[in-house]
Amino acid sequence: MKIILTGATGFVGACTLQHLVADRRVSKIICLTRKLFPADSPKVNPILHEDFAVYDDALLDELANSQACIWTLGAKESDLADRDALASVTYTFTLAMARGIAERVKHPFTFCYLSGMGADQAESARLPWERATRHLKGRTEKDLLALQEDNANFSVHCFRPGGILPDDANRVLRFLLAPIVVSVGELADAMIAESLEEKTFRRHPIIHNSAMKELYRTKDLGVPFHGGS
Ligand SMILES: NC(=O)c1ccc[n+]([C@@H]2O[C@H](COP(=O)([O-])OP(=O)(O)OC[C@H]3O[C@@H](n4cnc5c(N)ncnc54)[C@H](OP(=O)(O)O)[C@@H]3O)[C@@H](O)[C@H]2O)c1
Repeated sequence: MKIILTGATGFVGACTLQHLVADRRVSKIICLTRKLFPADSPKVNPILHEDFAVYDDALLDELANSQACIWTLGAKESDLADRDALASVTYTFTLAMARGIAERVKHPFTFCYLSGMGADQAESARLPWERATRHLKGRTEKDLLALQEDNANFSVHCFRPGGILPDDANRVLRFLLAPIVVSVGELADAMIAESLEEKTFRRHPIIHNSAMKELYRTKDLGVPFHGGS
């Protein structure tokens, strides 16, 4: 199957890319990226894209010819001082691509959105840290789920990890923080499982930390439900 990946140059995206390359159910990975990177597998098709708020018809047709998207592109409030820039990266970019695909797909398509713990769809939480990020991620989830309501072939899965640890993080630390952290490899595999497996289509709109670990444990390495290529 063909899958789209955004954020492939980031911490989560790079790990997800490695796991997708190793997954024999995946035949092609379209990486939409603002800076090119060396692709060491023929499966990887990097597409240079400058403005993630805008997608022309030819690109959307190509993207909608895939079976799933794993969206790991993103930023935190602490990374971007400007609230408008944070809103673009978090909300505008994600919805622009998702809308374009949802309006086009004629086959089942899964959109996995990497959100975060505490994402607040009501945008009312007054938590003191990362408040804008939580509100914007909540708004993004809400509008992605509205797209799912309007498009029967479009399935949305919002992942809400707490902290994301490297795979080689200290085992004691992982144990002590277990309820609020996930390893990057577990997260990558959980998102891949949601993208490829029929049993989860339109079933898990919001996936919390513990559920992603369960998805990781029960992941199916069989035939993709979307078909072979
Ligand atoms: N890391 C955590 O512990 C954690 C926990 C919970 C949720 N999350 C969420 O998970 C997502 C990914 O986190 P991460 O740690 O993998 O972040 P990261 O390492 O900073 O990677 C971010 C990715 O997004 C891309 N990106 C950022 N701004 C962009 C822009 N304006 N245009 C195009 N591409 C842009 C980056 O591309 P470049 O390489 O070109 O900059 C990179 O590929 C974020 O939404 C974050 O809020 C992270």
